[in-house]
Amino acid sequence: MPDLQYLILVKTNIETWIFKMKMPYLSKEELKAKIDSLPRINIALLPTPLQEAHRLSEKLGVRILIKREDLTGLAMGGNKVRHMDFCMADALQKGADVSLNINPWMSNNARIIGAASKMVGLDYINIAPASKFRPIQGNLLIQDIIGTDLHLLDTANHDEVNEYVDKLETKLIEQGKTVYNHVKEHMSRSSATISYMEATLEIEEQLANFNVAENLEVFVASGGAQGGLMLASQSLNLPWNVHGVIVGKPEESYADVVTWSNNALNHLGFTERLDWSDVEQLDKYIGPGYAIPGDDCIEAIRMVAELEGILLDPVYTGKVMAAVIDYARTGKFKQEDTVLFIHTGGLPELFDFADELKRRD
Ligand SMILES: Cc1ncc(COP(=O)(O)O)c(C=O)c1O
Repeated sequence: MPDLQYLILVKTNIETWIFKMKMPYLSKEELKAKIDSLPRINIALLPTPLQEAHRLSEKLGVRILIKREDLTGLAMGGNKVRHMDFCMADALQKGADVSLNINPWMSNNARIIGAASKMVGLDYINIAPASKFRPIQGNLLIQDIIGTDLHLLDTANHDEVNEYVDKLETKLIEQGKTVYNHVKEHMSRSSATISYMEATLEIEEQLANFNVAENLEVFVASGGAQGGLMLASQSLNLPWNVHGVIVGKPEESYADVVTWSNNALNHLGFTERLDWSDVEQLDKYIGPGYAIPGDDCIEAIRMVAELEGILLDPVYTGKVMAAVIDYARTGKFKQEDTVLFIHTGGLPELFDFADELKRRD
């Protein structure tokens, strides 16, 4: 893990932000050709809409556009569906017949990998740490409905979970199965960055209809998508500032933007590498912890629902919108700025947080 001082770089002045890494400048066609060189199957429903948030913009005093990545289709959608186009192609190319994953109860990744695995005809096993006593609700419910072989573990201890997974994987291999283990396979994570390099091309094309004169202030949960948006916008020489919002403490949910981006660059045949000094991560909006929404997150979810009829989630997008609201209220945007909020989905978890979100007792 990198030194914390490098991990959490909070930018104080949007105007002075500069990228230190230099991606080679590419035309849109060149970037697209790089991405098209990878094996792919079409699972996500693309393009997703880009939408003007009129009433929210009026309330916050800054123009806000929302990229509706919650509408990617598969099993209640979200950013992860984009990844599956590349990840499932990789699994099929490797001859997999079982998709194996380790993700706890609130995981959108677990839901989407499960639905995509089923869609392409693979069995799906998810080992869910610290989930034994969770209600079968939200992402767990959807995994159950799609017929996941769910292993709900009591423990979250790394060694114990790994031992459990190793035994299970060995047994499957002895039975003659070819297992695609999403924790071990690089493409499972790299696909997040690669698919958001492609999303950058999609957004850029859509922005032509939105008359955006000045810089675009992009807000997204810190992670693979952040890396993809950063790398591609730099390659295309776009005036975008990509702000990654951290949603958990490093020991709870570590957004390793650098490693994930560099693995993706490797897959695409680039020799450039990202460094922590290139990455902006905002750590003020975590609230009490990962998968625990604070008051600012709850306020953000209610505000966007009330003004725009758009639902955000309490684990990721609510915290990202809390950052946008705070930036607006503390005068960090210029009047001519446009905010691009990447709505990465996560909606099934609304139902796990009914007590926190409901307005009535
Ligand atoms: C709703 C939602 N948004 C954002 C993220 C971050 O994803 P990534 O690291 O792939 O960008 C996740 C990851 O689980 C998620 O579920």
